[in-house]
Amino acid sequence: MLDLLVTNATLPDGRTGMSVAVQSGKIVDVTPGLSAPAAETVDASGHLLTPPFCDVHFHMDTTLTYGQPRVNESGTLLEGIQIWAELKPTLTVDDYMERGMKYCDMAIAKGVLAIRSHVDTSDARLLAVQALLEVKKRVAPYIDLQLVAFPQDGVLRSPGGLDNLKRALDMGVDVVGGIPHFERTMSEGAASVKLLCEIAAERAKMVDMHCDESDDPMSRHIETLAFEAQRLGLQGRVTGSHCTSMHSMDNYYVSKLIPLIAQSGVAVIANPLVNIHLQGRHDTYPKRRGMTRVPELMAAGVLVAFGHDDVQDPWYPLGSGDMLEVAHMGLHVAQMTGVKGIHACFDAVTKNAAQVMRLDGYGIAKGCEASFVLLEAQGVVDAIRVRANRLKVWRSGKCLAECGAVTPRTVHP
Ligand code: FE2
Repeated sequence: MLDLLVTNATLPDGRTGMSVAVQSGKIVDVTPGLSAPAAETVDASGHLLTPPFCDVHFHMDTTLTYGQPRVNESGTLLEGIQIWAELKPTLTVDDYMERGMKYCDMAIAKGVLAIRSHVDTSDARLLAVQALLEVKKRVAPYIDLQLVAFPQDGVLRSPGGLDNLKRALDMGVDVVGGIPHFERTMSEGAASVKLLCEIAAERAKMVDMHCDESDDPMSRHIETLAFEAQRLGLQGRVTGSHCTSMHSMDNYYVSKLIPLIAQSGVAVIANPLVNIHLQGRHDTYPKRRGMTRVPELMAAGVLVAFGHDDVQDPWYPLGSGDMLEVAHMGLHVAQMTGVKGIHACFDAVTKNAAQVMRLDGYGIAKGCEASFVLLEAQGVVDAIRVRANRLKVWRSGKCLAECGAVTPRTVHP
């Protein structure tokens, strides 16, 4: 007998009337109209059953600190970094853990079962690292939490930055991060990219760097990152996060850059909610949108995913962990409002993000982990349109969260 059978589900690829059979935490069959004895049968009533949302770029150490010690009134990246530097010395391991666990509860309720979180390694005490490694352990049955060693104050610019980052990796942090555009000069930024990629190669780690998070059309760190990924044979393991400067770059230069990124197997992460509000702050009018060139990167075959980046912290006052909100903003900013474009933005918060994180057993197919989310929507477009309720959230066949249907059925495609 099956443990769980979900019937009459619509899948993200458009298949309808699908049954998903679960045994021992795994999907054992995905087929139309299957009926079989099961300990629990759930009629999806035609609603969308999707693999879990993955937030591939987040800051769990800073989340839920909004207003402490003050609010970011300029709305700039740099004021955010300054506020965080003021708050950091006052925080404890318990405080980091409490907020981290609280956020994970919020994420699960929104169907987010994988998060890649940067963790600031600039403070020599590494309290945030200690705390988030413990959170990772505690939430492991529910959430794949991947941690990135993130030298917020610059790995070369801040005293002890390199040593702190290496110690974080020694403690078990999964991915090597960086922030080349915050190093003192462009050349020091490039040197940090080279150095950090070499550390990742030595330790067989993935790389995910905040890269060119500015409106500076001359910022060139994604180029260096792509070059180093290729030079060190790190293809498929390197990600450039933000890359907002690409929005402002010269078109001729970008015509050379995007193929270079594609050849190097570097993935790109945009963070639509945060990019649209942090960037362009030095402009009068017209104001730049400040998100990287998502459709152009996708068209060139670059793996592109979307992250939430921040929720209620020095950089972003809003957010609820809802990746449908992220996709919603992303498709507006990138003007990806055709059916293909909307589906691509849904992929950016689901399967593309899972691919960046190199998650095993992700998807709704035979042999995959029985982790999925039932949305109160009839399809992908509808799900993003209404930021659909998460009717049920399953992890390895076990229901973690549920809510009742509250909106009337629609006929929107
Ligand atoms: Fe970030």
